[in-house]
Amino acid sequence: MRVLGIETSCDETAASVVENGTKVLSNVIASQIDLHKKTGGVVPEVAAREHILKIIPVIKETLEQGGCEWKDIDGIAAVPGPGLISALLTGTLTASTLALVKEKPLIPVHHILGHIYGNWCGREKEKFEFPILILTVSGGHNDLILMKNHGEFELIGQSRDDAAGEAFDKVAKLLGLGYPGGPAIQKAALEGNKNAFDFPKAKLGSNSNGNSEIFDYSFSGLKTAVLYAVQEKYGKDYLPEKLNRKFVCDTAASFQKTVVDTLIDRLENAADKYNPKEIHIAGGVSANLALREEAKTRLVKFNVPIKYPVDISYCTDNAAMIASCGYFLFNKDPNKYKNWQNIQPSADFTF
Ligand code: KG4
Ligand code: ZN
Repeated sequence: MRVLGIETSCDETAASVVENGTKVLSNVIASQIDLHKKTGGVVPEVAAREHILKIIPVIKETLEQGGCEWKDIDGIAAVPGPGLISALLTGTLTASTLALVKEKPLIPVHHILGHIYGNWCGREKEKFEFPILILTVSGGHNDLILMKNHGEFELIGQSRDDAAGEAFDKVAKLLGLGYPGGPAIQKAALEGNKNAFDFPKAKLGSNSNGNSEIFDYSFSGLKTAVLYAVQEKYGKDYLPEKLNRKFVCDTAASFQKTVVDTLIDRLENAADKYNPKEIHIAGGVSANLALREEAKTRLVKFNVPIKYPVDISYCTDNAAMIASCGYFLFNKDPNKYKNWQNIQPSADFTF
């Protein structure tokens, strides 16, 4: 079965064709990074306008690259949310229209569940064993999920304020490192001393479900601690571009270490409790090399496969992960996806 995936939840206009949930035939991403660099972050109205311009050419290109005509496509998967409403509208309306006109099933895919399937993309020869413990970590979300089977997800922890990727982006901005912040911090951290600053890790007590084990996250305090460290040295009205390079690299390295340690602490707690058969890390921040290295070192004791997306393009927003998730959802209950109107853009997180 070949599924056309469509993703427009934030600042990437993406379309992809994936066969049987794992074999990626094409994965086209029109990134808006250069556009949003000017403002140091995504302006929703600007993103929405760009999606409208790009969506049809991107779909056309992905069909061509995948060697597909419409008759080869067995279903369309698109994202109703969460994301920027005006951006989601383009993807959902396009998917609905194509489903009606081309008479294809329409499969709504929750963006975060889509990220989970970034780990299925390109892994056509590998086996997966449930339950799988998954950290999804991006700019807009930061969740610990126990996946019991396809379509069976239990949210066991999440960020109470900012996601880790959001913290990477904000800290990069206040250090004058530009947008997007994750790759810029990772690069600067390579030149820095990760023990230069002892930034605080949030202590949260019981989690939002009332459990005493702590699986939730919080990164807003860390962001403020970095700001205070910069202001203490350079004053409240400092100019980011005037910061000393060594100071910036040391701060980036210490900040990255604190985020990575916090993310892995929670994964370790959860793996202890749930005894998963696999541990996965997905989402934009799963591209981070320090995170991958720390996971390898500290989670090896669980003696289970630790997986990250096989290609960086499956970490950050893309449509291959949406097509893959769409395939597995469709196969659980094909009758559910006959209605071309069955997709409403929504900022809602629940799945
Ligand atoms: O999954 P994604 O593309 O979008 C959301 O769903 O939010 O994730 C984007 C986030 C950004 O915050 C970006 O700074 C972060 O992923 N990111 C990274 C790296 N590459 C991207 N964070 C840390 N290290 C990286 N190498
Ligand atoms: Zn995302």
